[in-house]
Amino acid sequence: MIAPFRFSSLPVVHFGTGKRKILPGIAKEFGSGVLILTGSSSIHNTGHGEEIINGLKQINVRLFHEIIAREPSPEIVDGIVSKYKQSDIDVVIAVGGGSVMDAGKAVSALLPVEYGIKRYLEGIGDLKHPGLKVPCIALPTTSGTGSEMTKNAVISEVGEEGFKKSLRHEKFIPEHAIIDPEMMLSCPDRLTATSGMDAFSQLLESYLSSQSNPFTDALALQGLKHIKKYLLRAYLEGDQNIESRAGMSIAAMFSGITLANAGLGLVHGFASPLGGYFEIPHGVVCGALMAPVFSFTIDKLIEQKDNPAYHKMVIASKVFSDFKYREEKEFLMAFKEKLVHISKVLEIPRLSEYGFGEEGFEKIIKNTSHKQHPVAFTNEELKKIISSAA
Ligand SMILES: [Fe+2]
Repeated sequence: MIAPFRFSSLPVVHFGTGKRKILPGIAKEFGSGVLILTGSSSIHNTGHGEEIINGLKQINVRLFHEIIAREPSPEIVDGIVSKYKQSDIDVVIAVGGGSVMDAGKAVSALLPVEYGIKRYLEGIGDLKHPGLKVPCIALPTTSGTGSEMTKNAVISEVGEEGFKKSLRHEKFIPEHAIIDPEMMLSCPDRLTATSGMDAFSQLLESYLSSQSNPFTDALALQGLKHIKKYLLRAYLEGDQNIESRAGMSIAAMFSGITLANAGLGLVHGFASPLGGYFEIPHGVVCGALMAPVFSFTIDKLIEQKDNPAYHKMVIASKVFSDFKYREEKEFLMAFKEKLVHISKVLEIPRLSEYGFGEEGFEKIIKNTSHKQHPVAFTNEELKKIISSAA
């Protein structure tokens, strides 16, 4: 029997090579006050940043530009909002990776309301956001978070009292998502690898999620097939291979839809405290944890064949298998090896490279949630998982 579910609306999606060129026409429909947020480097190095900004200048709008150099903190978002609060901004455009898109969604949601972002953050704030916002257009330059499709903006404050929390409302889904695979051609290798692993973990976690539904299952499985076909190719030959960039754009887009509608699992459960207490990029956290978390998950599911996630894990394992006919257990064991292989080829760094070591295990485990992961682990097991990634 299919369990009851809800499925949120989506942005208008414009997908295809060269689609960035439609941005000025779409922006103009919202009015003349345009605030564009971009990342700090790669799009400007390739000329795409200048091309986009020049295109916007030609439509006679009041154009304001801010650079988002890191994962957005309350201070960054509040600073931009107070700077432009009186500037009659009609549309916010975010051109960049997950950090830039999250910053764009947060700024667009904070411009019309009274208080700073912390008061509206899930698990921290004391106010419910009313859902008012300035329209937002997202144009991703990496294939990872799928933030262009989601209703939340992840905000991080790193440090002893750090956190990684969402600003979330159904209304925060961008009005338009322009996905142009040419924008990803110049994505640096490490970012291609780590953001690709973010999309991979989001797809697998939401596929196995206890809150998955027929919509998310269809998209997650299709997304996983794209990961199998394109993730390593995008990393190894992505600067010339537009097909692999297009394939990974689809995988990332689908992962955003599935995470927003089915939830996530333990990789992202670990990612919240890890990203709050340590300055580790989100994609690195996901990449480093992917093989250990799913290796332990497969072992548990083999003991729980009546768990609905067991059969889904077999299906996911078959997607990544080079064989057609095997015993279920063989597919599962081969998938464990494949995850390690993918991490090796992608040269995913260990978390210790970012200063995370044994002394941090307890604090992270204490603050880790299983989210919608299909099996539960003891603290001792969580320790084994995290130490495999450190
Ligand atoms: Fe993620």
